[in-house]
Amino acid sequence: MTDALSTLATRITGARRLTILTGAGVSAASGVPTFRGQDGLWRHHRPEDLATPDAFARDPRLVWEWYAWRRELIAACRPNAAHDVIAAWSGGADPGVRPPHTGRLKVAVLTQNVDDLHLRAGTRNLVRMHGSIWELSCWGRCAAGAAPWRDDRVPLTDLPPKCPHCGRIARPAVVWVGESLPAGDLDAAVRATACDVFLTVGTSALVYPAAGLVHEARQHGAFTAEINLEETPASAAVDLAIHGAAEQILPAIARLL
Ligand code: APR
Repeated sequence: MTDALSTLATRITGARRLTILTGAGVSAASGVPTFRGQDGLWRHHRPEDLATPDAFARDPRLVWEWYAWRRELIAACRPNAAHDVIAAWSGGADPGVRPPHTGRLKVAVLTQNVDDLHLRAGTRNLVRMHGSIWELSCWGRCAAGAAPWRDDRVPLTDLPPKCPHCGRIARPAVVWVGESLPAGDLDAAVRATACDVFLTVGTSALVYPAAGLVHEARQHGAFTAEINLEETPASAAVDLAIHGAAEQILPAIARLL
């Protein structure tokens, strides 16, 4: 393990462009349930059965109860050491973490997480590929309600919440299974694969287009690494697979920089 950590630290030290892709595993230590872990189950439903446009059309109240439950849970969570290291590397101030040779390293952070814990940790250059659980948009797609608006209310009293512009039902402004990413976010994510080091942290590497980015980075000649508790489909594709907890591994690497 020590060799792997110092190999990655050396690569980051020598890099000009570092791109970090994160998934639910990064927020696990903060208490946010993952999607495909044991803790992902809710009321005998699989997240895939709730996080789809069809599920919402069928029963918007049930889907909103699930998002309201997750919002209340996430509201009580705080960024953990993994978020703090990533924030510091991105140039967000965290006095506890020494940023790697300030000024030379350009860091892009791509997250699949909708919990906004990266934002709360002060992360810069962040692309929220799957949106935010704290933002809503108009399900009826009225012109004014197409752009997401922020709503931090916990608890959400009016389920389902309404679009403030047209009064119809509002939806969580997240990317559901089967939906495309907003074009701007996808372009930014793909552009970020042109980097020297591509690090994927805490994701099962099953959901595309996010799961395809590590392969695009390899085609750009990037050194690729994975930090994850368990083996994933990406483990065999990366140059370095480190299996362990992100909230322990990232601070350990930060100390070596
Ligand atoms: N440190 C590192 N990895 C961890 C940790 C931890 N502390 N805890 C869990 N993991 C790993 C798990 O082993 C698993 O491989 O994180 C991964 C989480 O995988 P998923 O639950 O599938 O979450 P994610 O990969 O983010 O899902 C992608 O799927 O349902 C959609 O839109 C949803 O954004 C989500 C996307």
